[in-house]
Amino acid sequence: MGKDKIFATPHGTVADFSFDAKTAAVFDDMLIRSVPFYLEVQRMVSELARDFAVPGTNVYDLGCSTGTTLIQLDQDLPEGVRLVGCDSSEEMLRKAGEKIEAHGMRHEYALACQDLNREVEVENASVVIMNLTLQFVRPLNRDRLIRRFAAEPVFSQVLL
Ligand SMILES: C[S@@+](CC[C@H](N)C(=O)[O-])C[C@H]1O[C@@H](n2cnc3c(N)ncnc32)[C@H](O)[C@@H]1O
Repeated sequence: MGKDKIFATPHGTVADFSFDAKTAAVFDDMLIRSVPFYLEVQRMVSELARDFAVPGTNVYDLGCSTGTTLIQLDQDLPEGVRLVGCDSSEEMLRKAGEKIEAHGMRHEYALACQDLNREVEVENASVVIMNLTLQFVRPLNRDRLIRRFAAEPVFSQVLL
């Protein structure tokens, strides 16, 4: 795991936070150090998803970053569930792909580059996870996004 030193040196100007290649390389270390109980949250989200996931449906992780939640879900969910990770950052998805390949997934899975501020492709979903992600969606799009998931015929749970 790359060590996060992104803010170790002073930054001249403060730009919007970017989920670029530099961040992707150290993201896991950054989250473990900066989000209290991050790994415990991962375990709990996956446990909750297990209660609602339906075989024959998709379980989505929107804003999947480096795939940490997808790997946890792979260990916890029953067979027959398909895992779909989406993110708008190609660099994060590349890192997720590497981690997932090294882990070796039991479940069928897909990774997709999608911007949640646009029309989002979610189908046959029983669970939609957006852990630490809804705050990066523009406020005027958040309500539409949640309503979109609730309209899914087999949908039972959104975990934020
Ligand atoms: C804080 S991270 C999420 C952490 C991750 N869910 C976890 O549990 O480790 C936020 C993620 O949302 C993604 N993101 C930000 N804005 C997005 C958007 N408009 N559409 C899709 N993904 C977005 C970022 O690239 C980043 O990977």
